[in-house]
Amino acid sequence: MFATDMLQGEVVLITGGGTGLGRAMAERFAGLGAKVAVVGRRQEPLAQTVQAIALAGGKASHAACDVRDPASVAAAVDAVEAQLGSVTVLINNAAGNFLAATEELSANAFDAVVKIVLNGTFHCTTELGKRWIARGTKGHVLSIVTTYAWTGSAFVTPSACAKAGVLVLMKSLAVEWACYGIRCNAIAPGPFPTEGAFSRLMPDAMHEEALKQVPLGRFGRPDELASLAAYMLSPMNTWMTGECVTLDGGEVLKAGQEFSRMVDVPRDELKLALSMMRPSKGGK
Ligand code: HXC
Ligand code: NAP
Repeated sequence: MFATDMLQGEVVLITGGGTGLGRAMAERFAGLGAKVAVVGRRQEPLAQTVQAIALAGGKASHAACDVRDPASVAAAVDAVEAQLGSVTVLINNAAGNFLAATEELSANAFDAVVKIVLNGTFHCTTELGKRWIARGTKGHVLSIVTTYAWTGSAFVTPSACAKAGVLVLMKSLAVEWACYGIRCNAIAPGPFPTEGAFSRLMPDAMHEEALKQVPLGRFGRPDELASLAAYMLSPMNTWMTGECVTLDGGEVLKAGQEFSRMVDVPRDELKLALSMMRPSKGGK
């Protein structure tokens, strides 16, 4: 559906781009003409992603980077800019998460997630933002949050706190950095079956129940998220800033609606029950 040169001229840096949704975005952006840099802690998945992109005829590079460490972020940006040219788009995608009862979390456990998600996003965003401001060039930051960034969520409180912080960082900078031509947006995915997320958060035994919460009846496909992100980076979308687009098959709306569980009742049975509740014509 997209022109194959839609992202030509863009140099996109994706944190956590070696796996899961980050890799799906990397491959899609490269297929649309962008040069793509993937960064993360482990070299192997990064190298595999770059190889897959090269085999498909795209241009990509990778650099080791721990987003918790500002010096590591600066070094990684230096390395990828030396290979691909100035970065024009940052995708804050790296994350850490696990299920735990909050009263059992150590201070270190809380830090382990928040330092990747919130501090890491801050380090990457300010590293690129400072470069764009100094160069007088435009830039775009797209952060991957979650649907519980607004509501919070039981049993993933470090992630919920951190994602809420990332969302607010995007909204704050959308205003503060608009004068520099820097836009900041976000995507809030619902459940996408990646190895990283589902191995930690969604054991097989939970799938059936989880699917019932999604009105459209299935989990997301990474290529669908990559397509949304590609559109958001495209020349068709240059006025959006401070926005967060939810992609979750309706899950978060169903969770919040008073009567939404009624959709789980077979429709004929439901309509029969509703008709029996209806007062008869002329009755009181
Ligand atoms: C309680 C835990 C724990 C757990 C770790 N800790 N796992 N506490 N329950 N399951 C504690 C440890 O005991 C330790 O505290 C502290 O956290 C740090 O642990 P490390 O293993 O040293 O951390 P580190 O090596 O930095 O690894 C970070 C990590 C790990 C987050 C724990 O899982 C990771 O690297 N994740 C990256 C990928 C990832 O998580 N992907 C999923 C994203 S999905 P003490 O006190 O013992 O020292 C996502 C989706 C959201 O975000 C929405 C889904 C619908
Ligand atoms: P994933 O494959 O586990 O992706 C997380 C990535 O972050 C990994 O590539 C990991 O690589 C990298 N990372 C972790 N710590 C890092 C650090 N300190 N420095 C640099 N990179 C680091 O999981 P995913 O499902 O694709 O998640 C991608 C994004 O989508 C995350 O922001 C997640 O919160 C969000 N999301 C996912 C879902 C879902 O259902 N899948 C739902 C909502 C939101 P290394 O370990 O090699 O560093």
